[in-house]
Amino acid sequence: MKSSDVVEEYANLKWDELGFCLIPVDYMYVMKCSKEKNFSHGILTRFGRLEMNPSSGILNYGQGVFEGLKAYRTEDGRILLFRPEQNALRMQMGADRLRMPSPTIEQFVDAVKHTVVANKQWVPPPGKGSLYIRPLLMGSGPVLGATPAPDYTFLAFASPVGNYHKGYLNLVVEEKFYRAFPGGTGGVKAIVNYSTVFKPVAEAKAKGFSDVLFLDVKTAKYIEEVSTSNIFFLKGNVISTPATDGTILPGITRKSVIEIAQILGYQVEERAVAVEELFDSEEVFCTGTAMVVNPVNSITYQGKRIEYKTGPETVAQKLYEMLLGIQTGRIEDKMGWTVELN
Ligand code: COI
Repeated sequence: MKSSDVVEEYANLKWDELGFCLIPVDYMYVMKCSKEKNFSHGILTRFGRLEMNPSSGILNYGQGVFEGLKAYRTEDGRILLFRPEQNALRMQMGADRLRMPSPTIEQFVDAVKHTVVANKQWVPPPGKGSLYIRPLLMGSGPVLGATPAPDYTFLAFASPVGNYHKGYLNLVVEEKFYRAFPGGTGGVKAIVNYSTVFKPVAEAKAKGFSDVLFLDVKTAKYIEEVSTSNIFFLKGNVISTPATDGTILPGITRKSVIEIAQILGYQVEERAVAVEELFDSEEVFCTGTAMVVNPVNSITYQGKRIEYKTGPETVAQKLYEMLLGIQTGRIEDKMGWTVELN
């Protein structure tokens, strides 16, 4: 074997400097759906540009959904995915809402596994981050009138990532813009849900906040979610989070944190959370694939800043450690949530 044939275990990257920015890796997975509406013949291809029809459904009408999930390297060198079938199911829900065909659960999970294995060198060393996988489903066929596209493309690309936010969050309650409305697409991972928060988030950041907390559009009296994450409130032994009634994204981290909190003995309530509850919560934290469990230091509502407990002795920290421990293989996965790659 020549020395040039030796495949390095890790790509040449400054692993200690990972943030949440795209680092292009070697391969992506692409699968198309012909007019008869069944995905088939997925392939791995070099990561690179896509050729798009200018009249494609995604470019003209935003007909697309995405997912996000992570692969972690364990201390003993295995690679674990976390509940990928849940992402597959959520993609199917979103596809149905946007009138798109979607890959089967098996096809989705298989695509994710292939993407990670092909880019194994880019899965960070233990403790340095994860490989974030971004599956996308879009109307790639041509349309002119506002109708579903005739053809669809599913793809999965990836990037090594570190923390989404650096440090605790300082949120501001958004009172001018709304993220979702009943009957809309707030409860699915529609691509356009994310671009509509850019303006309020940019305005909040310009005022020194980390992110915005959205209220319900009907009454502006109830908490919904942060721009890219779900939110939880702790008071005593009770942890409350807005119920997923169609305007809240059913986060996989949200669902997992609820189960972990119950196992740890907390009472978890999924219900309407009134904005007044901001004033008597002891701890607040956000959850999401990208941010895992991120404690909230303060929320500003109508000019009043409310501060919450943060630090090593918090419930948020306990939940974070248990969730991340399972995801990274440091804590035994009694739930059967992790999927090991071969
Ligand atoms: C995720 O946590 O996967 C998200 O969807 C957030 C993303 C917008 C970065």
